[in-house]
Amino acid sequence: MATAQLLQWSENLRIGIREIDDQHKALIAMINELHQAIVARNAKDIAREILDRLADYPLTYFRDEEGLMQRSGYSALESHREQHEDLIRRIGELRNQFDAGNSKITFELMFILKQWLTRHVNESDRRFGAYMMATP
Ligand SMILES: [Fe+2]
Repeated sequence: MATAQLLQWSENLRIGIREIDDQHKALIAMINELHQAIVARNAKDIAREILDRLADYPLTYFRDEEGLMQRSGYSALESHREQHEDLIRRIGELRNQFDAGNSKITFELMFILKQWLTRHVNESDRRFGAYMMATP
């Protein structure tokens, strides 16, 4: 049985910088994949593998985004970086909870992840997108 996706990419999430939008799409796909695996419950190994990917991916992607901010002289870089560190911490917690076999908490954390990502993209990344558009 197909399960509804936890998160859906939509035009509302577009911030206008193509490389960042593409990375958000990839991150959303990974979160959905993990959610499906957790829903299926019989996919422990798959879920663990996706969690590993989800833990690695933002490390590279966030550094790219922060590099772009640094090169463009974006003044809110530090507070933006703190939000990225927060997500990396949350994914680490998610992995620990999963390893401890606590699927209920894993579900709760999936929703926290969803809220974090939606909010971060809509507020912080969007502000950066607008800054880049306005910067010659
Ligand atoms: Fe960001």
